[in-house]
Amino acid sequence: MTIAHPHATLTTTPVHDGPAGPQWWRSAVIYQVYPRSFADASGDGIGDLPGITSRLGHLAALGVDAIWLSPFYRSPQADAGYDVADYRDVDPIFGSLADVDRLLDRAHALDLRVIVDLVPNHTSDDHAWFQEALVAGPGSLARARYHFRDGRGAHGELPPNDWESIFGGPAWTRVDARPGAEASDHQWYLHMFDTRQPDLNWDLPEVRAEFEEILRFWLDRGVDGFRIDVAHGMVKAPGLPDWGGTVAMIDGAAANHGPMFDQDGVHDIYRSWHRVLAEYDGDRALVAEAWVEPLARLARYVRPDEMHQAFNFAFLTSRWQTSTLRTVITASLAASDEVGAPTTWVLSNHDVVRHTSRLGLSSPGARPNGIGHGDEQPDEALGLRRARAATLLMLALPGSAYLYQGEELGLPEHTALDDDLRQDPAWWRSGHTERGRDGCRVPLPWSRDAPSFGFSSGGRTWLPQPSSWSAYAADAQVGVPGSTLEMYRTALALRREHVLGAGSLAWVDDLAETSDAIVLVNGDVLVVTNLGTTPVPLPVGAHVLVSSGDLADGDARSLSVPTDTTVWVTLI
Ligand code: BGC
Repeated sequence: MTIAHPHATLTTTPVHDGPAGPQWWRSAVIYQVYPRSFADASGDGIGDLPGITSRLGHLAALGVDAIWLSPFYRSPQADAGYDVADYRDVDPIFGSLADVDRLLDRAHALDLRVIVDLVPNHTSDDHAWFQEALVAGPGSLARARYHFRDGRGAHGELPPNDWESIFGGPAWTRVDARPGAEASDHQWYLHMFDTRQPDLNWDLPEVRAEFEEILRFWLDRGVDGFRIDVAHGMVKAPGLPDWGGTVAMIDGAAANHGPMFDQDGVHDIYRSWHRVLAEYDGDRALVAEAWVEPLARLARYVRPDEMHQAFNFAFLTSRWQTSTLRTVITASLAASDEVGAPTTWVLSNHDVVRHTSRLGLSSPGARPNGIGHGDEQPDEALGLRRARAATLLMLALPGSAYLYQGEELGLPEHTALDDDLRQDPAWWRSGHTERGRDGCRVPLPWSRDAPSFGFSSGGRTWLPQPSSWSAYAADAQVGVPGSTLEMYRTALALRREHVLGAGSLAWVDDLAETSDAIVLVNGDVLVVTNLGTTPVPLPVGAHVLVSSGDLADGDARSLSVPTDTTVWVTLI
């Protein structure tokens, strides 16, 4: 295919044609709010729902379509709320159900949809079901809701199988090892994550029925959808067989083909949930957090009668390399087109080192599990430059895009957090070999000159903020031309105006041919991301819409795109 415009004829290879339907989630930009670190209205140093509500104006002005809230349910916070003790209540540190209602009202008034997190693979050990199971003892119906088993070995002293916890150590805990447990209770229970996160047994109809009721509870309250935690994990292979492999979060997908993940039976659950959501108006949506490879396997979660979106971790984990990124983008669009679903794009979330810092490492895009004292420290300026380029590339792609709070400020990871302040269970469960995820969860800086940079009305923060973050504060960037915040705002407005989320994609072959660049067209917008060292000249007469960095002068009549820079231009 060729595209003619006044000054050039571009040869392109079409990849994707446009959306398969009009639903909002096919093209939405969805902003992840991590409640404990977004904004603190109560003053205790931990973010809360009223804090989020008070800052929704920032998100409306940013130009996103929806927010996804990480868990705010009642929880002992053994895994920052991904250990739910009551799925129908709000933890007092975050507020109350009335605060959820106020947040929903305000968000909807601002035209922002709200997705909440659902954690169905496991409960907290404080959940009434688990407490009942401990008391009820072996063989009880209460234990059947989880995976309790006798141990192996002459005295049951060995775990029932060889599975490992994703946070490190065995995936089994013996009941009598728990504080206050019956000394004679030698059964073990399965937890793919922390000891305090027992896995539910999804073979039991009662468990399935309970979660359908939980979905309805929140749908009735007005939520627009759910992000499903560990969506590939609920169904385990019959008999929980030994495996011999290891599991890891997100980019462990290649290794995650064991009997605990991505079993065919899990899809029945999503078919039934799809039917529940379809009873409600407003195109409510389910998004899968599933670390599954290859992309064709991931696409099975978003078949027409299952979920609506799945996070595209293949994109998040790509190295900063032209060929890798091009291949992943092509493959992502092809796999989701096959089932009529939108592709999603994501670069950062609460489980990974922020992309500003990953891209500043000597192996750009490598994904260590946390960074701390003694580790390679990212090059902050280089990382930010590349992160801005990566973001502009992502926001130009058709499909739905996810942003993680603070990336619109260009926030780096906290890479020098004191180890004794770390709260992620991965830090101690891994025997201090993995720093974990605290560095991307540090409370946001809102005001350059205020205590706690305006995060908390009490001036406190549950994790310390680096002093260098004053330069990243939202109020230091609003209205400042070229700031990261203004770049995001401009890009999101242009994405809407040029309908890029619902657009098409074709690779532009001739501009990329001689350079280390990704060049694509989406509708009337030409996008150039230069990962090489040689500047890439733009077609003569190109009109620049937004750029992640300064452009260089090309020949007498044109501009060129320097290294680690993305630019959007119109062709006609
Ligand atoms: C969440 C993590 C959490 C884990 C266990 C993940 O996929 O994103 O933050 O620790 O599930 O619930």
